[in-house]
Amino acid sequence: MNRTMMQADKPRRRKQSAADLSAAKGKEPLVMLALYDAVMARLAEAAGVDLILVGDSVGTVMLGYESTTPVTLDQIIHHATAVRRGAPKTHIVADLPFMTYQVSDEQAVASAGRLLKEAGADAVKLEGGVAMASRIAAITRAGIPVMGHIGLLPQTAAFSGGYRVQGRDIASARQMLADAKAVEAAGAYSVVMELVPYELAARVTESLRIPTIGIGAGSACDGQVLVSSDLLGMEAAFNPRFLKKYANLAETIETAFADYASEVRARVYPGPEHVTALPAETLAALDAPEPDA
Ligand code: KIV
Repeated sequence: MNRTMMQADKPRRRKQSAADLSAAKGKEPLVMLALYDAVMARLAEAAGVDLILVGDSVGTVMLGYESTTPVTLDQIIHHATAVRRGAPKTHIVADLPFMTYQVSDEQAVASAGRLLKEAGADAVKLEGGVAMASRIAAITRAGIPVMGHIGLLPQTAAFSGGYRVQGRDIASARQMLADAKAVEAAGAYSVVMELVPYELAARVTESLRIPTIGIGAGSACDGQVLVSSDLLGMEAAFNPRFLKKYANLAETIETAFADYASEVRARVYPGPEHVTALPAETLAALDAPEPDA
């Protein structure tokens, strides 16, 4: 059975819109996965996830940067285009990278437009609450669905206290509630809440009509998101409290690579079952003396 047949055998489903996902609040939790390529997208679609995020975490997870700050719009477009090819029936959210929306409402709308037109994304995500409300409103007015992102904001975390749980004191907890309300009022259809104590995440979730999607924010959120390579255990040394590893691919992959290397060096791979034999007559002709010209 080839890949196309395997796909064709799966029941076809309608791609969920931003409105469908927004209306899912209070029903079954939404499942979002951050991933960056067509192979993973195909598997995520087959597994039935609700949303795929082409996050700017691509910078740290795939491109070897120290943070998400250097990621460009062209890089997100490159990865989101591949993800769209792998998951044609899944709602895809693409991140607006740092400095592709902060400058002005006009810049934000132009950047968001590229993610829809060039990459085929269904929605965009940007970081920030009250401070980014006007950007969310401008993009939404242009007809582009926006997912907000509050709590830990990875694009600016390095400049503002590092990667730590947010909203622990009363001032920042109140600010979180205000940020959530501002994101909703500006027209976002959902909001990611990152690294937030679970009681505060529950209060934010209760206070909104739009779904909250948590990462490190507990089970009261309306949905959850994890980075696919984190839950697959691709990075043995990455073990934050919120992460559950559903596989240990780092070990599996390293063992497979090492087995391959030793079999190549020992001339065990490729074996006779992996090669194509020359037709006997061609072989005989090759070995016979060449006829005179
Ligand atoms: O870029 C990303 O993967 C994200 C998730 C952590 C929510 O923003």
